[in-house]
Amino acid sequence: MFVNKNILITGGAGFIGSHIVRHFLEKYPRYRIINLDVLSYAGNLENLRDIERNPNYTFVKADIRERKLLSGIFQRYRPQAVLHLAAETHVDRSINSPGDFVQTNIAGTLNLLQEALSIWQKDFTGKLFYHISTDEVFGALGSEGFFTEQTSYSPQSPYSASKAASDHMVRAFGNTHKLPFIISNCSNNYGPNQFPEKLIPLLIHNINQHKSLPVYGDGNYTRDWLYVGDHAQAIDLIFHHGKTGESYNVGGHNEWSNIDLARLLCKKMDRKLKKEEGSSEKLICFVKDRLGHDRRYAIDASKMNKSFGWKPSVSFEEGLDLTIDWYLENVDWLKNIVSGAYQDYYRKYYGYL
Ligand code: NAD
Ligand code: TYD
Repeated sequence: MFVNKNILITGGAGFIGSHIVRHFLEKYPRYRIINLDVLSYAGNLENLRDIERNPNYTFVKADIRERKLLSGIFQRYRPQAVLHLAAETHVDRSINSPGDFVQTNIAGTLNLLQEALSIWQKDFTGKLFYHISTDEVFGALGSEGFFTEQTSYSPQSPYSASKAASDHMVRAFGNTHKLPFIISNCSNNYGPNQFPEKLIPLLIHNINQHKSLPVYGDGNYTRDWLYVGDHAQAIDLIFHHGKTGESYNVGGHNEWSNIDLARLLCKKMDRKLKKEEGSSEKLICFVKDRLGHDRRYAIDASKMNKSFGWKPSVSFEEGLDLTIDWYLENVDWLKNIVSGAYQDYYRKYYGYL
C-alpha cells in the first residue's frame, strides 16, 4: 500500500517509537521513514544508533506544538501516512504539569491533523493518519471485566484526559473532513529503551543499584503488561490491514499487581546478579499513593485476534528476561539518562531517589 512512500513517525526517539522505527525500516526496505521528535527528556537518539545511517531514514528535530514548523516539514516530505506516537506519557508528571500534556497531546495532535488535511487536500487515496493511544482513556476497572472497543471513555488522570481528547479530535477530523484515520489503544508496554521513570525499568535500575523500590499505596493496583515487540507487530498489522475509521484494543492478557510484579523482578534479579535469595525483596518499600490512582486496567484484545490472528508472542517470563538483560548490558544508556535532570525531578516530586 505504501511502497516508495514517505511515512512520518512522530515520537520515534522515545520508547515505543524507536521500536516502531526500527521494525518498519527492517521489515519494509522500500519505505522512507521520517522520524519527527523534539527530543524531550524521554526522547533519546541513542535508541536508534544502529539504524541512523540507513538511507531510508531521516531524523527531524521538531516540536509538534509548533504549527508553522510542522507546516514546512509536511511541505518538504509530503508524507502519505502519519504514525503518531509523540506525547507526554507519564501519569505522575501529568499531575504536576498538566499544561504540558494539554499542549503536546491535544494541541500537538490537532496541529498534525490540520497539516495532514492541508497536504492531502481531500485526495485521501492511500493516505492514513494512525494515532497511537492508550487503554487509560477508558478509566479504571474494578476487580472484573475488560476494556473493549465499545467501552465508554472515562479518563481519570490529566494524562489519560489529554489522550482521550486527542482520540476525540482524531475521530472528529474523520467525521468532519473524512480524514482516513485509525486509533489503537494499548495496555502498559515494557521492554528495552523505556525511560526509567516507568515502573519496570525503575525497579530494575533500583534493584541493580541496591536502592529502595517504591511501591505506591497498598501495591494492589493492577496493570496488563505487553512486550514492546508485540505492540510493534500489532501496530504493523493495524497500519497495513486495519479498517479506516476504526479502533483496535491491544493488550497482553497478562495482569499483575504491582507488588507481585516487584517481587517477581526481585527474584529474577537476585538470580541474575548472583545475590542471596530474598535480598532484593528487602528493598521494597510502600510509599505515598499516586493521587487518583487507577485501580486496574485490562484489555480485551479479541478484535485484534479475530481481525488479524494477532496475539502476544513473547511470554512475560521471556520478556522480563530480555528486558532485564538489556538494562544490565546497557549500563551507559542508563547512566546518561539518569543524569542530573532525572535526579532533580525525583527529589522535587517524590523526595527520594
Ligand atoms: P515516551 O515518553 O517514551 O516517548 C515519547 C516521545 O515523544 C519522546 O521521544 C519525546 O521526545 C517525544 N515528544 C514528546 N513531546 C513532543 C513534542 N511536543 N513534539 C515532538 N515530539 C515529542 O513514550 P512511549 O511510552 O514510547 O509512548 C509512545 C506513545 O504510545 C504515546 O502516545 C503513548 O501515549 C502511547 N502508549 C504508551 C504506552 C506505554 O506503556 N508506554 C501504552 C499505550 C500507549
Ligand atoms: P507506570 O509505569 O507509571 O504506568 P501507568 O501509571 O501509566 O500505568 O506505573 C505502573 C503502575 O505502577 C501504576 O499502578 C503505578 C505504579 N508505580 C509504583 O507503584 N511505583 C513507582 O515508582 C511507579 C513509577 C509506578
